[in-house]
Amino acid sequence: MLKRLVHSLKSLVASFYWLVVIGRWGIDSVFDAVYEGQSRSETFRKIFRDAFGAEYPEEVDTTGFLTVTDLHNAAKYLGVGPGQTFVDLACGRGGASLWVARETGANVVGIDISKVAIKDAKGRIGSFGLDGRADFRVADIAATGIPAGTFDGALSNDALFMVPDKQGAFREAAHILKPGARFAFTTWELDESMRIKDYHPILEQSGFEVELYEACPGWEVRQRAVHEQILANKEKLIQEMGKDAAGVWIMFSQVELPKLPLMRRIFVVARKK
Ligand SMILES: C[S@@+](CC[C@H](N)C(=O)[O-])C[C@H]1O[C@@H](n2cnc3c(N)ncnc32)[C@H](O)[C@@H]1O
Repeated sequence: MLKRLVHSLKSLVASFYWLVVIGRWGIDSVFDAVYEGQSRSETFRKIFRDAFGAEYPEEVDTTGFLTVTDLHNAAKYLGVGPGQTFVDLACGRGGASLWVARETGANVVGIDISKVAIKDAKGRIGSFGLDGRADFRVADIAATGIPAGTFDGALSNDALFMVPDKQGAFREAAHILKPGARFAFTTWELDESMRIKDYHPILEQSGFEVELYEACPGWEVRQRAVHEQILANKEKLIQEMGKDAAGVWIMFSQVELPKLPLMRRIFVVARKK
């Protein structure tokens, strides 16, 4: 009982600190720091590798909880192919964008608010053999500036929960998609300021029809293992990633660990009407 109370208090303080950090420096600076530090840490990568086992998408090197199954699902449900182009909203370092583009034969445009992520993503195009078929741009996914009806599909992994203007982000996704195109994404449900309890209403209000909406198998076990190991390896991570990058993940793990039983990681496919 006392242990749970202490844990909840720590989570409350960390949640508050997390919102202050994002509010003060902006989500782009927070992620610039994360991306700069993360690539230096072998411990960080090992934590994910150990927690995910065969589900760890080694080549993709994601910044979230993306699995091999998620990647295959995205490629299967996006319904894109050669000669078509999909957009990856909040693409991070572009690993998932490039993997899905290679798998489907389609072209990709990745968008993220972090300059560091976009620079890294551009640098990875060649290693996936996708020169001329991938483009990465810095922009807010709630206001991309891209003309209506541009894309044949949209992807987004582990990012929509943190976008403050969610209505704007879903409206923008609908705006830049062609009618009938699919939006496949992973995110978390949780009835709190940064997240939504149920994505059906916002999708329907934004002009989508939900085709598939399901929990990702095994997500909680993997996420718990990652957070526990991040907190158990704090000092090592600070040493390898630097204080800023490690600090974001440590804070995130502190906030999230007690909330896991209240959350659900979901995979959704919605069709633009
Ligand atoms: C957890 S990471 C996931 C990145 C990537 N999708 C992946 O799976 O590796 C979340 C990403 O969302 C981006 N992001 C957050 N808010 C954004 C916004 N409003 N517009 C564009 N990108 C945003 C961050 O910069 C970060 O790269």
